[in-house]
Amino acid sequence: MILIKTISQLREKLAPYRNKPSSIGFVPTMGALHAGHISLINSCKSADTICVCSIFVNPTQFNNAQDFEKYPITIEKDIDMLEASGCDILFLPSVAEMYPPGDVKKNYDLGYLETILEGKYRPGHFQGVCQIVDKLLAAVLPDNLYMGQKDYQQCMVVQKMIDLEEYATVLNIGPTIRENDGLAMSSRNLRLNETERQQALTISKALIFLKEKLRPGQTDSLRQQSEKILTDAGYKVDYVAVADAATLRPVENWDGKQLLVALVAAFLNEVRLIDNMVING
Ligand code: PAF
Repeated sequence: MILIKTISQLREKLAPYRNKPSSIGFVPTMGALHAGHISLINSCKSADTICVCSIFVNPTQFNNAQDFEKYPITIEKDIDMLEASGCDILFLPSVAEMYPPGDVKKNYDLGYLETILEGKYRPGHFQGVCQIVDKLLAAVLPDNLYMGQKDYQQCMVVQKMIDLEEYATVLNIGPTIRENDGLAMSSRNLRLNETERQQALTISKALIFLKEKLRPGQTDSLRQQSEKILTDAGYKVDYVAVADAATLRPVENWDGKQLLVALVAAFLNEVRLIDNMVING
């Protein structure tokens, strides 16, 4: 694996792979890698000629300064994991490389998607995600982009940005990878202490409860029961939502056919966890 720190070197290295039948695959990350990231690298490796991974803790997508400061950094372990996975290029830019002085931040018209769920509870977050993913896509110009379903709304936002900016990149969404007890793998899990780690499985339990119990008709009472599972376990809940899987519009009266996704965001003390499950997919 080669390590590249500048956009110009990255472009130079990727130039020979720009033409068919070669294809460039790209896995953007903020580091603190886990098996979820590696499953994306594996998909990339099996489909593309060259696999690029980026590690960049993007300051513009943190709406909470403490969350940014405490974001786990495990760069040496990350490099070992990427080497072992067969990743070809690790792009590791500095903040000044991605946001040079005088850089004008773009604004993306994300519409409804930005007003709900993560967009509502983390104002500005998705603008920051679009700013960095746009810059990374412009640098890599991948044929295939790989992101995890764990960040369901982020995948929808990035697809919207790809359409708005007219990239020729195809977004491939990999399944959420879970620990044995059901906890969705996440870099933020590293911030949980032992007791919190045990409590953390309640998030997936609350989603499984919805997945198993939801029947055609009114959804709200079950949604509230799922929220109660979390508050009873000591969580401070931002949202539990039952929504249309394609639009994220809330579904209060389900016809039993519409594809649904249940999404959760909740705090365990200082750590905010999110997760989701497609209900009837
Ligand atoms: O999901 C993440 O790790 C980040 O939001 C991403 C897509 C790498 C952009 O910084």
